[in-house]
Amino acid sequence: MTAILPHGGKLINRIAEGQEREELLKASYHLKQIPVNTWTISDLDLIGSGAFSPLEGFMNEKDYRSVVGEMRLANGTVWSIPITLSVSGDTARSLNLGEQVALTGAEDGVIYAVLTIESVYEVNQEEESQQVFKTTDPEHPGVKKLLERSPIYVGGSVKVLNRPKPERFGDFYFDPARTRELFRQKGWNSVVGFQTRNPVHRAHEYIQKSAMEIVDALFLNPLVGETKSDDVPADVRMKSYLVLLENYYPEDRTFLGVFPAAMRYAGPREAIFHAIVRKNYGCTHFIVGRDHAGVGDYYGTYEAQDIFSNFKPEELDITPLFFEHSFFCTKCGNMASSKTCPHPNEDHLTLSGTKVRGLLRDGQCPPPEFTRPEVAEVLINGMRASVTP
Ligand code: ADX
Repeated sequence: MTAILPHGGKLINRIAEGQEREELLKASYHLKQIPVNTWTISDLDLIGSGAFSPLEGFMNEKDYRSVVGEMRLANGTVWSIPITLSVSGDTARSLNLGEQVALTGAEDGVIYAVLTIESVYEVNQEEESQQVFKTTDPEHPGVKKLLERSPIYVGGSVKVLNRPKPERFGDFYFDPARTRELFRQKGWNSVVGFQTRNPVHRAHEYIQKSAMEIVDALFLNPLVGETKSDDVPADVRMKSYLVLLENYYPEDRTFLGVFPAAMRYAGPREAIFHAIVRKNYGCTHFIVGRDHAGVGDYYGTYEAQDIFSNFKPEELDITPLFFEHSFFCTKCGNMASSKTCPHPNEDHLTLSGTKVRGLLRDGQCPPPEFTRPEVAEVLINGMRASVTP
């Protein structure tokens, strides 16, 4: 059995270990220090572990412009989201090409990595917003984040010296090399990856299990990096995934591991990015449902599926599995989608996120056709804990 190749053909490893780490760490104390925030530390770690293969560092100007304009790195490899390091104008002016700098946690002072400067460049953030997010509306959470940053970027390869330590659920952090090894040990030839920033409701469960009917296993890979403040916190979600798996999923065909990335809310472009990264983790298939990675009304319901037709299957080399909007149909008496159910909307149980949050906040379980009761209980308790002073 040959495992699916990482994007670009080779799993990148930019994590320094042993003597190399010791030497770099020693040298790094004498380098210029660039403070980096949690988001950048998460990007760094994902570059280091190979989750972002073939990236070896933050994008240089050529790759950045090509990614923003063409959804490809300068060498033609498909890549849809800029992965960049933003610095202040003063910092930029003090830097020289070829110089090494230390990337240091702004909050904890830890030296996370050393970067070798390849390029320092100024960007047009409005253009980046329009291309990547399809809007320049500052209310869009991804655009908002982008506009908060300085428009001066520094590109170059990195060597990671320290890794962020998860506060909780550390047992569910796996690097791509490890998930690949585990999938192989389990004898799984085909694995479907599932991205989520939400609790798993019945519609999610339905599309996961529909996919599981045709592949060997499910890699439930919730995103646990930065999300917008009204999304359910990652630790509450993790508890909810555990009770769900325990009660409703076959243990020998499911694997839970976190994706410690920040959420961009870039809809279609993020769907491509999410698929590529899951290939790096060893998935052969990837689920894209309705409004994947979307927010508000910025993207069409199936735009995140349509974008895949811009690329040849061999360019992505992971099979997307597209699912229509799914719901519980009271006439059918089961989960369905417009592909499988002939009944009108009135027969379909659909609840908005706002409505569900309202119910949970009031300590009420949404109907079991919408959310498993065990999951609802975890979410209600989680909400209670978050409002307790
Ligand atoms: S995401 O921002 O992480 O994509 P979410 O956690 O809501 O959001 O969705 C996870 C995956 O499930 C995405 O592929 C999304 O398209 C899909 N999905 C969510 N709800 C539905 C639904 N009711 N029907 C079909 N697919 C859905």
